[in-house]
Amino acid sequence: KLATTVAGLRTEGARLLGSGQGRSQGLVPTMGALHEGHAALARAAVEQNDVVVATIFVNPLQFGDAVDLDRYPRTLDADLALLEDQGVDLVFAPPVEEVYPGGEPLVRITSGRLGEKWEGASRPGHFDGALTVVAKLLHYGLPAAGLPAAGAAPGGLPAYRAYFGQKDAQQLALVRRMVADLNFPVEIVGVPTVRAVDGLALSSRNRFLSGEEREAALVLSRALRLLEERADARQPLDLDSARALVESQPLVGLDYFEVVDPETLEPLAENCRQTPFSGEALALIAAKVGPVRLIDNAPLRS
Ligand code: PAJ
Repeated sequence: KLATTVAGLRTEGARLLGSGQGRSQGLVPTMGALHEGHAALARAAVEQNDVVVATIFVNPLQFGDAVDLDRYPRTLDADLALLEDQGVDLVFAPPVEEVYPGGEPLVRITSGRLGEKWEGASRPGHFDGALTVVAKLLHYGLPAAGLPAAGAAPGGLPAYRAYFGQKDAQQLALVRRMVADLNFPVEIVGVPTVRAVDGLALSSRNRFLSGEEREAALVLSRALRLLEERADARQPLDLDSARALVESQPLVGLDYFEVVDPETLEPLAENCRQTPFSGEALALIAAKVGPVRLIDNAPLRS
C-alpha cells in the first residue's frame, strides 16, 4: 500500500491498526535508494510491531546544496518492492508540497551543540533540517491518531516505535535527545550497521565510488576494527596507529577520527587511550574518498 498524502496515510494507518490486527505501530523513516541497511530496519520493525509504516522522502531541508539534492538517487519502484518483501504494511512517499505546503518552515528544530560537531561541522544546518523532518514524520506516523482499535482495551494507547540505523550515529543520538528533550510519545530503536562482506558500511553514496576508490574506502572499517579488537582485549585504544592506517591510503582524505562518549559525542579524555579500555565508547570516522564523503563508526564495549 502506498500513500502520498497525509490524509491517505492517516486513513490507511487507522484501517490497518483498527481492524484488530494489532496494537503497536513501527515507523521506518528513509530517503529511498534503499539497500540491505534499510531492509534491516524494516525487518526489525516488522518483527516488533503489528503494523509497520515506512516513509520515503528526500528532505530538501537537510541538503546543503541543490546539486547534492538533485543528484540524490531516486528508485521508488525498487524501494517499494524491497519494503514489501520485508513485510512493511504501508509506505508514505509524499511530494515536497505535501510536507512543506507553505515552502520551507519558519519554525524548526534546532539541534544545538550536539548538532554542530562532527558531521554538523562540515554540513552546517544539516541536523536542524533532518530533525525538523523527523519531528514531522514522527507526528504523521502517530498510530491512528488516538482512535481506539476494535477489541482494544479502553484507554490503552498503541505502542509506537521508530527505527534508526546506528550507521548514522550522530543522527541517532540527536533523535534520541529530541524525543527525550521534547517528550515525543515514541520509543526510538537503534539498529546495528549493515556491512558488505568486505566490511564497507552500506550507504546509498557507495554507488558513486569507482572500483579503486571502493577498495581504498575499506581502510575506514579496518581502522575501526583495530579499535574494536583493542577494546575487546581491554587494551589501550591506540587511536594513533588506527589514524596512521587511514592516512597511509592516498585516495582517502581523513576528516575526523575520534573516540567519544556515545550520548554526548564529546571526545573521551586522552588517558582512555593510554590506559586499558573499559566501559562504553563510540569510535567515529569521516573521510572523503574521491568525490564521496563517507562516515562510519563502531560501538566500543568492554
Ligand atoms: P537515509 O539515509 O535513507 O537512512 C534511513 C535510515 O537507514 C537511517 O536511520 C540510517 O541510519 C539507516 N541506514 C542507512 N544505512 C544503513 C546501514 N548500512 N546499516 C543500518 N542502517 C542504515 O537518514 C536518513 O535517510 C534521513 O536523515 C532521515 C532520517 C530519513 C530524515 O530525512
